Amino acid sequence: MKFKSFLLCLALAAVSCGQAPRNNSEIPVYLDDAQPIEARVEDAFSRMTLDEKIAIVHAQSKFSSPGVPRLGIPEVWCTDGPHGIRAEVLWDEWDQAGWTNDSITAFPALSGLAATWDRDLSRLYGKNIGEEARYRNKTVLLGPGVNIYRFPLNGRNFEYMGEDPYLAGEMVVPYVEGVQSNGVAVCVKHYALNNSEVNRHVANTIVDDRTLYEIYLPAFKAAVQKGHAWSVMAAYNLYNGEHLCSNEVLLDKILRGEWGFDGVVISDWGGVHNTLQTARHGVDLEYGSWTDGLVMGKTNAYDIYYLAAPYREAIEKGEIGTDELDARVKRILRMIFRTSMDRTRPFGSQTSPEHYAAARKIGAESIVLLKNDGGLLPMSNPRKIVVVGENAVKMMTVGGGSSSLKAKLEVSPLDGIKARYPDAEVVWERGYVGDVGGEYNGVSTGQDLRESRNAATLIADAVKAAQGADYVIFIGGLNKADRQDSEGLDRVQYGLPYGQDAVIEALAAATGKLVVVNISGNAVAMPWKDKVPAIVQDWYLGTQAGHSLADVLSGDVNPSGHLPFTIPVSYADNPVQTERQYPGILRDGTIDGMPVMDMEYTEGIYVGYRWYDLHGGVLFPFGHGLSYTTFEFGEPRLSKNSMQENGTLTVTVPVKNTGAVKGAEVVQLYIADAEASVDRPVKELKGFAKIMLEPGQKADVSFTIDKDALSYFDAEKHAWTAEKGVFKAMVGASAQDIRGTAEFELK
Ligand code: BGC
Repeated sequence: MKFKSFLLCLALAAVSCGQAPRNNSEIPVYLDDAQPIEARVEDAFSRMTLDEKIAIVHAQSKFSSPGVPRLGIPEVWCTDGPHGIRAEVLWDEWDQAGWTNDSITAFPALSGLAATWDRDLSRLYGKNIGEEARYRNKTVLLGPGVNIYRFPLNGRNFEYMGEDPYLAGEMVVPYVEGVQSNGVAVCVKHYALNNSEVNRHVANTIVDDRTLYEIYLPAFKAAVQKGHAWSVMAAYNLYNGEHLCSNEVLLDKILRGEWGFDGVVISDWGGVHNTLQTARHGVDLEYGSWTDGLVMGKTNAYDIYYLAAPYREAIEKGEIGTDELDARVKRILRMIFRTSMDRTRPFGSQTSPEHYAAARKIGAESIVLLKNDGGLLPMSNPRKIVVVGENAVKMMTVGGGSSSLKAKLEVSPLDGIKARYPDAEVVWERGYVGDVGGEYNGVSTGQDLRESRNAATLIADAVKAAQGADYVIFIGGLNKADRQDSEGLDRVQYGLPYGQDAVIEALAAATGKLVVVNISGNAVAMPWKDKVPAIVQDWYLGTQAGHSLADVLSGDVNPSGHLPFTIPVSYADNPVQTERQYPGILRDGTIDGMPVMDMEYTEGIYVGYRWYDLHGGVLFPFGHGLSYTTFEFGEPRLSKNSMQENGTLTVTVPVKNTGAVKGAEVVQLYIADAEASVDRPVKELKGFAKIMLEPGQKADVSFTIDKDALSYFDAEKHAWTAEKGVFKAMVGASAQDIRGTAEFELK
């Protein structure tokens, strides 16, 4: 039987069985998916009681809030985020619930994703992690994070997308779209100005408007306006003397007002500290509140959350009307209709071969080859490889705070190398003792990393093992322990911890075949840089970490990652130097019953390369990344020499693979305002493209720019402004490797 006639028979059979086509007029509008979402929202809303409205705006458990059970409107279930789906936790505890079916794929940390400079990989990431969230029936994925990398001590930089607002803004949009294509909402976090962890509940950021709009907001704005994010998480800290969760300027004026955000603002867990101000201007949905305002929580205290009984009382006493509540309820309903009440959404999947393949690919493409003297890498025909360092074996998916995971599989770097070279002798030596912990909220790595040798013996043993090796690969860096790359606290030193510098120095003295692999989500000091022929920046790459690294070390994948942040020579080179800038200064008085630390962003717009371009002190620049091949850039050409304010202009640069292997280059476009009446950075990233070329192949890379690429934020006019005059289009392979410049005029 032909397929069409088969379908016809099926349809006739259905009718004859009495299955009449659904009559839409017989079901309520809110349940009718043929109706527009707004009509469904209004209809559902019109059926709700005050109690139901109050119930829907605050949590009922650690990670869920009620729907409207009487109407069959489902609960909202949130999950961390942002690198994988968090293990299920107990109803009112952080501890894992002990399910046996909640082990997931751990995807690379977002700092790594940003290092790919590849929008397609960001979409792939979003789609895949969204499938896992969907499979686990989550409404909201708590991520991605796009707080700007302000300085290298922030414990959560590994969860974010680097120092540049344009890069973060471009990379976040496909992630959002990918996740939401599963009918799962993202929750873009932590809005905003949460750029360090120490004092995160009491730090009041003081920042000028220009810096706010140019540096700290663009990635959020892109997620909302271009990515159409369905939810945003309000951060813990304060701005303008108000906690972010009740912040009138950032939530009402900018997010909902200027950007037209129609989704849900969710509080960071325990970020709400008052009822009235929050009810007027704050979050839509309150989660994780501590009932003493800061650290302590009563068990199952959900009914006394700020947006629970106290909210109802305030309405009853007439202290506040119901307009704000109604708007909040509608926003939450809208999110539910976009997600769990979208009957067309896919079903998702978990730990599929596709997810593992995606994690491996994204991981490999994120790894940055910082230095490769004499072409030491890729390894060629190694017979003996000596691997040194704790991070070669340490499981990194457990720890680090809320992004901690229960991964079904985590391939360590050592195992990845062994798997790639089954016929080689691969020896591991520890080299140093870092963090021997391996437990977070009841999820344990099961690794026993205890060690009895002292530091001198560990170094001596590593040096001894290195004798006669074809390659010595030191794999160290930071980890997910407190005061490393971890939530809640920041790093306490810029240098590598645990005496690793001494191990590297000793190995460098013993062999000319040393490769240092630094695994971290932050820049670290590399005082041994000139003594080590090859340096690789690796990230927390999750389930496939070891395979991704081996792919690059072996040359199976030609490295194409580029730094999403600058690595300064020393801490003294970075823009955040004074106590006033960080960790801030205690001010008199309290806000929401809590002390306040004023933290002033006196460096202004000079963050990342914008700072280093003026002050120097760069070890490896923003945008830097080598390949096993080489690329030649031709002169940039412009489509015309001048552009009108509302026009566009195209910059085209020919790029050629001049080496012997296929490889990808990240071509970067920076714009400089050569005739500005205000202070402007030396240059700013306004375009990038990743292009794959065969040996000898040449291709044109084009960027089209408009007024946005030329503008600064004029705080007085409260408007983006592009000044007439001469601009430079600078094309290069990093912020310090500009290969060609072309000038044009804005008329
Ligand atoms: C973190 C958020 C996280 C939330 C829920 C908070 O402490 O700041 O990023 O999503 O906890 O785990």
